[in-house]
Amino acid sequence: MEQLRICISLTLMWWLLEMTVSDPQTYLLNQGCSRFNVTSFSDFSRNLNGTLAELRGQLENGMYFAVAQEATGSDPVYTMVQCRNYMSRRDCISCFTTASSQIRSCSSANGARVIYDGCFLRYESNMFYQQSTQEGHLGNCGNRSASQHTIFETTVGRLLGNLVRATPRIDSFFAANSEEVVGVNGNVTAYGVAQCMQTIDEAGCKACLDVALANIRRCPPDSDGRAVDTGCFLRYSDSPFFPANFTIDLRPFLTTRNRTKRNALIGGLAGGGGLLLLLTLILFWVRNSRNNIAAPQEDVEGPPELQGPMTYTYKELNFATSNFSQQNKLGEGGFGEVYKGTLKNGRVVAVKKLAIGTSEKVKAEFHTEVKLISNVHHRNLVRLVGCCSKGPELLLVYEFMPNGSLDKHLFGEGHGSLNWKQRYDIILGTAKGIAYLHEEFHACIIHRDIKPSNILLDRDFQPKIADFGLVRLLPEDQTHLSTKFAGTFGYTAPEYAMHGQLSVKVDTYSFGVVVLEIISGLKNTETPLDPADEFLLKRAWGLYQDNMAIEIVDRSLNPEEYNVEEMKRMIEIAFLCTQSSASLRPTMSEVVALLKTVSSLEPRQPTRPAFIESESRVNYIPHESSTSTSSSNATNSITQVSGR
Ligand SMILES: *[C@@H]1O[C@H](CO)[C@@H](O)[C@H](O)[C@H]1NC(C)=O
Ligand SMILES: *[C@@H]1O[C@H](CO)[C@@H](O)[C@H](O)[C@H]1NC(C)=O
Ligand SMILES: *[C@@H]1O[C@H](CO)[C@@H](O)[C@H](O)[C@H]1NC(C)=O
Ligand SMILES: *[C@@H]1O[C@H](CO)[C@@H](O)[C@H](O)[C@H]1NC(C)=O
Ligand SMILES: *[C@@H]1O[C@H](CO)[C@@H](O)[C@H](O)[C@H]1NC(C)=O
Repeated sequence: MEQLRICISLTLMWWLLEMTVSDPQTYLLNQGCSRFNVTSFSDFSRNLNGTLAELRGQLENGMYFAVAQEATGSDPVYTMVQCRNYMSRRDCISCFTTASSQIRSCSSANGARVIYDGCFLRYESNMFYQQSTQEGHLGNCGNRSASQHTIFETTVGRLLGNLVRATPRIDSFFAANSEEVVGVNGNVTAYGVAQCMQTIDEAGCKACLDVALANIRRCPPDSDGRAVDTGCFLRYSDSPFFPANFTIDLRPFLTTRNRTKRNALIGGLAGGGGLLLLLTLILFWVRNSRNNIAAPQEDVEGPPELQGPMTYTYKELNFATSNFSQQNKLGEGGFGEVYKGTLKNGRVVAVKKLAIGTSEKVKAEFHTEVKLISNVHHRNLVRLVGCCSKGPELLLVYEFMPNGSLDKHLFGEGHGSLNWKQRYDIILGTAKGIAYLHEEFHACIIHRDIKPSNILLDRDFQPKIADFGLVRLLPEDQTHLSTKFAGTFGYTAPEYAMHGQLSVKVDTYSFGVVVLEIISGLKNTETPLDPADEFLLKRAWGLYQDNMAIEIVDRSLNPEEYNVEEMKRMIEIAFLCTQSSASLRPTMSEVVALLKTVSSLEPRQPTRPAFIESESRVNYIPHESSTSTSSSNATNSITQVSGR
């Protein structure tokens, strides 16, 4: 008889487990929409769709937690998904599918979240990855009573207490456990899980779970309780909702000074027939905690504040880049080496090691500048994802650009790989990115080092400018004059290179040179093989004056892809940008307007460009280092930060 009962209950257990194994757990616990609408629904929708596709890809790769962001156009979208670790991959993806369709019911809200038993999904217009506990947290109690109330309450109390204490100390920030207690009418079991977002730290996880616990303390003897918050999830039930093999031993994570004493007390009470006393204590605890219920909050999240970038530990980034291994090295820019890295959440990033020292002064500037840069959102500017300032080096974490930098596709082996449409898009996108830095961002940022190796290409060969805002971090003895920063005289406006005269027109000049390079597939700075050859800019100008400008066009371009008259106007725009008088050069927003209407432009007469002739270039470098006084002055006003 006894055996039969065990057998039946085992079968029942098995059946329940089977059920959970193929269940996406899409019972909706909470949904919230921001009160604020996006500015451009099409930009937002494109970004949202992009990030959702990225999240799905990461889940398909076996991740249980993923973040993604797209900042194209006016409405950046940051997303985060998390499945409970006990879900099968299929259930996780299926829960995500439900979530991503449900989250659209917030239509044009600039932030939204949906939380299910099995997973949660959230997007915001700003980075929120570090939030642990926020307004909107709440508890949700079950709708029936568990059997053997008092024992169940005790059991749940102990189970949740252990989960909340252990989970922040567990690497995966996830724990599932159950507690079984012998009762008068058979065993009573409570099942529970706790989980934190992978992007918060141990303290954040703990703070969030403490709030979560306060939110569901009052639930027993209800059969179920769930607490939701931005940074964590806590749930208990009287029936199993995760496969038994996910149960872990929490004991190693519960060690604190008082542990032995406390366990001995509970053990002694329970074992020694002190049940009545125990129950009194529990009742007291429950009553007490009922008075401390965190009031349910308004189910809406306000607009997130502008925030600094996410901070990473040196250890994390060291791990992500396999100890900054040579295989992971992507290249070396003016500010240091760049490595490819894969973060714990599966996201691929580019990690830049800043070669600027780590003095306190540098660090202070680093923080100011990095905070500024991290709030720059534009589709043609590389996103700064995070940074690390604790450790032997200052590190910056950027979104990874799968197609590398423009120079690789323009010169050398990749030469001829870009068609005219792609090149035109790169020219226009680059102009828009610079215009944004100069005129649209609240602080005017002059890049000062626009060149093809600083123009990165995303999946769709759209340009994203890198390294903006960093110049300010250079120590004064390492200004634009240093070969390390700007050994690229071919791109630097002469008035700046020679006299340190800095204005937004410095970038206009560099942009003009880059346009000629994109059109011709030739490098302005390459030392001509034949001394009779001239630098690109000078040669192009010569051809232009002879009304033969079209000769400069890259011969690998298919002539059927472009219109000759338009191409001539493009070359003229490049010359307008490189004129020797900075005041004659157009601003970048004017350039954008010219590029957009290139087909209807009337011919214009640019004045002679300023270029450094091959001979003077030789004298030019020593001349540079003697003007260090004016250059230091320039450094101080490098990123001209002006209120807007
Ligand atoms: C946001 O957009 C929705 C429709 O998409 C509209 O009903 C609502 O009034 C808008 N809210 C605000 C604050 O503009
Ligand atoms: C985004 O996806 C939704 C649903 O699949 C679709 O209706 C919408 O048109 C997409 N938006 C864009 C801009 O692709
Ligand atoms: C009780 O809650 C469960 C979800 O946990 C739900 O499926 C069920 O319909 C609810 N029952 C009642 C009577 O509300
Ligand atoms: C009841 O729980 C005890 C210990 O918690 C266990 O030893 C026992 O096998 C359980 N009995 C049943 C019927 O599951
Ligand atoms: C539990 O078992 C399932 C298959 O039955 C397996 O996929 C899963 O990895 C196991 N989980 C753990 C934590 O062992």
